[in-house]
Amino acid sequence: MNKRQVADFLLKDHTRTPVKPLGEAFSPSNIALCKYWGKRNTELNLPMNASLSISLDDKGAHSRIQLTDHAHDVIVVNGKTLEPTSVHAKRTSDFLALFKQDASQHYQLDIDVNIPLAAGLASSACLYASLVKSIDDFYGWELDHRSLSILARLGSGSAARSIETGFVEWHQGTREDGLDSFAEALDVTWPALRIGLAIVTNEVKPISSRAGMQRTVETSLRYQSWPDKAATALQHLKTAIDKKNFELLGETAEANAKAMHATMLDATPPIVYSTAETHHITSRVSELRKAGLPVYYTQDAGPNIKLLFLSDDQAELESAFPGLEIVDPFKAISC
Ligand code: PMV
Repeated sequence: MNKRQVADFLLKDHTRTPVKPLGEAFSPSNIALCKYWGKRNTELNLPMNASLSISLDDKGAHSRIQLTDHAHDVIVVNGKTLEPTSVHAKRTSDFLALFKQDASQHYQLDIDVNIPLAAGLASSACLYASLVKSIDDFYGWELDHRSLSILARLGSGSAARSIETGFVEWHQGTREDGLDSFAEALDVTWPALRIGLAIVTNEVKPISSRAGMQRTVETSLRYQSWPDKAATALQHLKTAIDKKNFELLGETAEANAKAMHATMLDATPPIVYSTAETHHITSRVSELRKAGLPVYYTQDAGPNIKLLFLSDDQAELESAFPGLEIVDPFKAISC
């Protein structure tokens, strides 16, 4: 099956007639504690391994979608209209085509994202998830979360996890059509858990995660052991969440991020997302930990670092990392 066939299958019982003039939705960004790294199917974004993330509360993307008389889709991100021929506009437009009645229809899509774009803060995850949810709202489909997650995955793999809040597991699945590869929320909260966003740069990363992932799978020998390592990490994380064992959670997430970056360094040519500032932050995390502060980090396909710690240590971390943006991932869920 290709993307269009998967979307048609999931939407087979629904019409493509809008039920309102404008559809809208918000989706949070998510940070993986066990990373999705490598695809077994590049067309459908089917992963080589299962992954587990935590959604970032109100940090994410808000999408509004409506029909337009323009001769092409109009895509506005944070108030700026994308050039229709740009890579991002084309990629978004190709995705929007999956939902159209016919090719003569065009959308106006307005997206507001409150995290840096394409800097390894999972902006594509919240973007595609909010897009799918706004389309669902526009057409009044009321799709179940499993279908929304599968549709979001067709836009960007990690978007499968941004349909949900809290801890989210993306099942790897084994089917060729990917209908068993979707994300589900874990039925558990951890109100004391905090995430600190140490934003090194807002600049767009030099190589996309999509391209980085592909090059790693194709050229890195170290990648061969990745799927097994990730499967073990996933089990440790689930135990840590179940038992509220913060050290196990932090150690596993940090080791998983390091293992992912090691596969990239082994690629030809090597992929390096870290900068001097990234190293400065990660060294500081090790120093603080040696001094007895339970803090860990994770890093995605970009130079920015996300710290993991508990609410009791928030003040200490704010003074150690001035400007740290703190996310309370269970704020909305626990109120
Ligand atoms: O969804 P993509 O294609 O942007 O890939 C995301 C990959 C990582 O952020 C590095 C890991 C993850 O699981 O989010």
